[in-house]
Amino acid sequence: MKVTVFGTGYVGLVTGTCLADVGHDVLCVDIDQRKVDNLKNGIIPIFEPGLDTIVKQAVQNGMLNFTTDMDQAVAHGELQFIAVGTPSGEDGSADLQYVVAVAKTIGQRMNGYKVIINKSTVPIGTAEKVSAAVAQELQTRELGLMFDVVSNPEFLKEGAAVTDFMKPDRIVVGTDSEQAEKLLTELYAPFNRNHNRMIFMDVRSAELTKYAANAMLATKISFINEMANLAELLGADIEKVRNGIGADPRIGYHFIYPGCGYGGSCFPKDVKALIKIAKNVDYSADLMEAVDKVNQAQKSKLFNYIEKHFGTDLKGKTFAVWGLSFKPNADDMREAPSRVLMEALWAAGAKVQAYDPVAMEETQEIYGLREDLKLVGTKEAALEKADALVICTEWKNFRAPNFDLIKSSLVNPVIFDGRNLYEPERMQEAGFAYYAVGRGKSVKVF
Ligand SMILES: NC(=O)c1ccc[n+]([C@@H]2O[C@H](COP(=O)([O-])OP(=O)(O)OC[C@H]3O[C@@H](n4cnc5c(N)ncnc54)[C@H](O)[C@@H]3O)[C@@H](O)[C@H]2O)c1
Repeated sequence: MKVTVFGTGYVGLVTGTCLADVGHDVLCVDIDQRKVDNLKNGIIPIFEPGLDTIVKQAVQNGMLNFTTDMDQAVAHGELQFIAVGTPSGEDGSADLQYVVAVAKTIGQRMNGYKVIINKSTVPIGTAEKVSAAVAQELQTRELGLMFDVVSNPEFLKEGAAVTDFMKPDRIVVGTDSEQAEKLLTELYAPFNRNHNRMIFMDVRSAELTKYAANAMLATKISFINEMANLAELLGADIEKVRNGIGADPRIGYHFIYPGCGYGGSCFPKDVKALIKIAKNVDYSADLMEAVDKVNQAQKSKLFNYIEKHFGTDLKGKTFAVWGLSFKPNADDMREAPSRVLMEALWAAGAKVQAYDPVAMEETQEIYGLREDLKLVGTKEAALEKADALVICTEWKNFRAPNFDLIKSSLVNPVIFDGRNLYEPERMQEAGFAYYAVGRGKSVKVF
């Protein structure tokens, strides 16, 4: 099938590439000329395991192409995906300007039936707004063409995006059009061979499903973080509590890892957007407000420990930071807890010596060259003459480090662990002051 995808970010590029990989003829369009030029030359703008190989294959097979030409983009696909950004506006609501711009682009150029599929995360009622924008453009052109607007939210996880798209838990489609339902069933058939994952519903329910999913996951994280904070005050160990509650299948082990807060391009903005969506219908989303509040406080946790240990004046101190991206296997720095930490350290006069397996380029882009930020090539180099080690992201190769080397490289044997990677007893034996999240009486200066 002929498919156009607007937006070549995490969602658009993965969607376009995976659809091309199963044999659809895909044209990806972006307004960012540099991104499109790079993609044409095989340079992938994001780090996503497995993505570069299938992009290259699909391009070679002629099934995946990139353009900035809007005429070509609209002419290409009967199916037109919208996968552009929906960032937080000033009041926390989702900014729909990019989504509406694509709707107008399509309305200004279409010459036959199109299914417009919204993959961006958008507030309830957006499909109606997209419909209205397209209809208005068609009216200006005095054309009475048929089209359908469908909601097809994306549930992929950065770091496992290709696998998630290829083997989805579910494919949610919101539509009241039989024709659109038929076309989407055909489009996704290659991903449904094992069993049917399609869940059809009305458009508004599909739009809310995406927010509900992210809100639930963010709630689980803030919940365990609140329990961790309590555990710390009560002399309990949250890791034992986590095991104790996770064993209950009604609760489960997923998404109850305590830590230094959630980040990324989705949870923070989607929780805020849901609060605003609720306000717009005169409902106070108290639970979501609390989830957001707990998370913001959690992001200061590591810095609070640092102040507790070293005092408030950190001038002349250098901190080794392991992990910058908001989660492992991704280079996304949007709302990453590491940013809150580094900015607080800089404000207190400290320097940062940081290492991340893939997010250092992105970090450099955000902060530019500055005296108090040194990005180094290995996790060991980050430790050299640093006053302490701070862990922000649970990359696999941080899990079993050489503790002797850490101790001999650091000026003080202190670790602030925002991801609970090590056992407090083991750290105590090794002579470290070890601060972790919610590990009860073990969290103290030894
Ligand atoms: N990143 C994720 O893990 C994830 C997962 C599920 C859903 N989502 C949602 O998907 C949407 C996209 O997220 P993302 O992370 O891929 O965004 P992104 O910021 O990485 O990419 C968006 C792209 O859209 C392009 N763009 C903007 N206006 C355009 C236009 N008029 N025509 C063509 N391209 C245009 C931008 O240049 C950019 O390359 C958001 O609504 C997000 O909430 C994201």
